[in-house]
Amino acid sequence: MAHDHDGAASGETAETAVEKHASSASPGVAVERADRIPNPGFPPERLRVTDVDPAKERAAERTVSGLFLLSVVGSVLAVVAYFAFPIVEGDPSTIRLNNLFLGLGITLGLLGIGIGAVHWSKALMHGHELVEERHPTRGSDDTRAKAIEIFQAGNAESGFTRRSLVRNTLIGALVATPIPAIAIFRDLAPAEDPIALLKHTMWEEGVRLTRDPSGTPIKASEVTIGSAFHVIPDGLVDLESHKLEEKAKAAVLLMRLPVERLNEREDRKDWSYDGIVAYSKICTHVGCPVALYEQQTHHLLCPCHQSEFDVANHAEVIFGPAARPLPQLPITVDEEGYLVAKSDFTEPVGPSFWERAL
Ligand code: FES
Repeated sequence: MAHDHDGAASGETAETAVEKHASSASPGVAVERADRIPNPGFPPERLRVTDVDPAKERAAERTVSGLFLLSVVGSVLAVVAYFAFPIVEGDPSTIRLNNLFLGLGITLGLLGIGIGAVHWSKALMHGHELVEERHPTRGSDDTRAKAIEIFQAGNAESGFTRRSLVRNTLIGALVATPIPAIAIFRDLAPAEDPIALLKHTMWEEGVRLTRDPSGTPIKASEVTIGSAFHVIPDGLVDLESHKLEEKAKAAVLLMRLPVERLNEREDRKDWSYDGIVAYSKICTHVGCPVALYEQQTHHLLCPCHQSEFDVANHAEVIFGPAARPLPQLPITVDEEGYLVAKSDFTEPVGPSFWERAL
């Protein structure tokens, strides 16, 4: 009877052979089960047209060379474009031309190499399938013994474990070395306390609410039901420096609702004036301006990620990724009837951040 290389009789499965062997083996002899599905091996190699037709092989060679030449042309074009379309200061259109032709040249250069290399490997290089056996990564016993020997010799020569004073001071020096880096990185933070920077805005008691961007003050009588005003604090337009930073924190939306529609929190009953409420315009998600007001529903929509806030219900989040309501600015009117702030915001404006509970 013919036998395969594993010793199993031909015509019976490897599993059957193993089971027969197991039943005839003496008690206590371990039997290793064979794989249920034998390894089918590689399919026979399919010859490509370039393997059998020398004319096609030469054509593929020319294509690959053509692609590499195209890459050379692209690179030369990029250099020529750099000088032919210089960037002229004060003329943004020159940046566009320069970037366009420089980019086209570089793209051609890279694509030519990439596509050429892929075509070369697919059409001309041999496509044999290969198996690379894994090797154990553990070193041989000799190698491991030698490594230990080297470490021990190094320890004996340096006295690392014996000279405890030297060793401990070295450890101390290594621990201390990164400390200047911590100080240097700390220096990258804003000079002022970032929490205070975000927590306080230009609003304070008596500051008038003014129109954005004209800076004209707003009388309560001008705010009709259903209207919405984009508001900045009085004095912002006159700032000489940090105007944008201050505006980014202090921008407010002002709306008037029928008083009976306003559902105000008990501790905020006096934060509105005759149905007029003011909320930060900076979304509490990641800080986009919440600029879309829906008069009928009294909802504010942030266009960035569609967070929706209900103005009638202290600007609570009713949809979207924002994590907390828009901060409310307490307002009232002064003796001339102009709307004024009663204080700064009582919580940080803008995206939620970990310090906001402070
Ligand atoms: S910034 Fe407003 S929803 Fe994301």
